[in-house]
Amino acid sequence: MRIDIITVLPELIKSPFEASILKRAIEKGLVEVHFHNLRDYTTNNYKTIDDYQFGGGAGMVMMIEPIDKCITHLKSQRDYDELIYMTPDGERFDQGIANKLSLSKNIIILCGHYKGVDQRVRDHFITREISIGDYVLSGGELGAAVLCDAVIRLIPGVLNDETSALTDSFQDNLLAPPVYTRPADYKGWKVPEVLLSGNFPKIEKWREEEAFKRTKDRRPDLLEE
Ligand code: ADE
Repeated sequence: MRIDIITVLPELIKSPFEASILKRAIEKGLVEVHFHNLRDYTTNNYKTIDDYQFGGGAGMVMMIEPIDKCITHLKSQRDYDELIYMTPDGERFDQGIANKLSLSKNIIILCGHYKGVDQRVRDHFITREISIGDYVLSGGELGAAVLCDAVIRLIPGVLNDETSALTDSFQDNLLAPPVYTRPADYKGWKVPEVLLSGNFPKIEKWREEEAFKRTKDRRPDLLEE
């Protein structure tokens, strides 16, 4: 999989890819991540990427020309499955979207700033608009990092068996059950007996019940879906 990230602040998004699971996924060649600074696609001396909005009003708007130049350059090199725009008014990101995106070969992610991008970018280039939640970030970079993390860990070979994505919360519309490690008794706080029993069908049943209880308690909306 190849991910091309278009941003005005590459320094804000690079570090999540330089540690732990994402770093290893890149080193193993399972994913390629490329950053494109939008200012490299400007034609004026000041490298301006934004301008006042037509009709007046506070806040700058990202101009279409540098974005067009960058996207056109990328699309001349390969086909893309999706061209994603990170924006608070997009479709709410969830595990289902992450699963689907993890099957892509090439995706572009455009990070918005200020009041957002000129609507014509959204109308003519973007195939999917994604929000990571109902709050406004200073820009799309942190959202793009969240999306990439959730997607990349699903690519076969990225996680080893013991961190398998199949047992994560949300994977089957259930939250994950509680987990424990040694010691079995800490200051009198005991690990549930069943987990020490070695009876694996019983352990599995307990985990299912706990996952269900936790979901019913915290996220009943998931059970309705
Ligand atoms: N840019 C600003 N806020 C955002 C959000 N909630 N999700 C994705 N991109 C954003």
